[in-house]
Amino acid sequence: MSETPLLSAVNLHKTFKVSSHNNSTGVLTALDRVSLQLFAGETLGIAGESGCGKSTLAKIMAGLLKPDGGSVLYKGKQLAQLGQNERTVFRRKTQMIFQDPFSSLNPRMRIGDSISEPLKIAGIPAPMLRKELTRIMTAVGLQSDVVDRFPDEFSGGQRQRIGIARALAASPEILIADEPVSSLDISIQAQIINIMLQMKSDFSLSMMIVSHNLLILRHICDRIIIMYLGAVVESGPASELFQHCRHPYTEALIAAIPGLHTANVSRGELLRDDLPSALSIPSGCRFHPRCRYAVDLCRHEVPKITDHGNGHSAACHLSNKLYG
Ligand SMILES: Nc1ncnc2c1ncn2[C@@H]1O[C@H](COP(=O)(O)OP(=O)(O)O)[C@@H](O)[C@H]1O
Ligand code: SF4
Ligand SMILES: [Mg+2]
Repeated sequence: MSETPLLSAVNLHKTFKVSSHNNSTGVLTALDRVSLQLFAGETLGIAGESGCGKSTLAKIMAGLLKPDGGSVLYKGKQLAQLGQNERTVFRRKTQMIFQDPFSSLNPRMRIGDSISEPLKIAGIPAPMLRKELTRIMTAVGLQSDVVDRFPDEFSGGQRQRIGIARALAASPEILIADEPVSSLDISIQAQIINIMLQMKSDFSLSMMIVSHNLLILRHICDRIIIMYLGAVVESGPASELFQHCRHPYTEALIAAIPGLHTANVSRGELLRDDLPSALSIPSGCRFHPRCRYAVDLCRHEVPKITDHGNGHSAACHLSNKLYG
């Protein structure tokens, strides 16, 4: 891995103004001082229950949404300070794959035109365009004779292949995928994941993959970040995080995976109640109302992110006591 991260986040903060049921407006905290680093060649997973801020983070990292505070750095330079040309390069080099590729494809555009749009923008001359289009479509397992069809003529899995092909056509360095397989049948999920892994090595990509499915992330990621209610609570190498988690929330997520046995995870239903509202983040440790290990300190004092070595860190007052 190179020293300077390809993409990094420093203390990202994001709130949304929302109107509640009695028509008063409230401020919801979607991200609270989130920092992370994505190195060249790495696959980074972002996990956490629905509503933890994963999509908000992905959009900010891709430059599609502005944070209220903190910054995103591309090769060490703040996105907000990139000049026009550098910003264009960043937009092309950082591509996003969405959960529902249908929403990101123009329904009235033939898929050949959709996929080749980034090639045209990049100035690929017409004679080479068809060849490049065929190469990319073949890479994602699409027959080149479907170029004249429209998005609604394809299945969910094929549409996701189209979404990946369109992203690849921009010659990206970074792919940010937000729940890329969660809307697909289980059998199709594995195919799409395998295509993404193949693309990563064939096209030398770095990837940030958002998923609420920890098993998928364990399979494909070098490192995993666990988010809870807008904050990072644990991060570390994927295998270590599974073998030796250091946060009760991670423990509960792992315990919820059927048939998986790992060293320091108690079995059974550990995650009680629903995720609290992001409109009123609990005091102290934000996980305390659902944590079966919570002590008085947890209710009053925000736990610091503590480094446990080997790139593994966690924000829990009792991490050493609970997990050694
Ligand atoms: N555009 C928006 N307006 C208001 N609230 C939003 C918006 N986008 C996300 N949120 C809220 O921010 C929090 C995090 O959402 P999100 O990033 O979508 O989480 P996740 O992807 O982990 O499910 C949630 O409470 C969600 O309701
Ligand atoms: S700080 Fe306390 S409440 Fe929070 S995860 Fe650790 S033990 Fe649980
Ligand atoms: Mg989401």
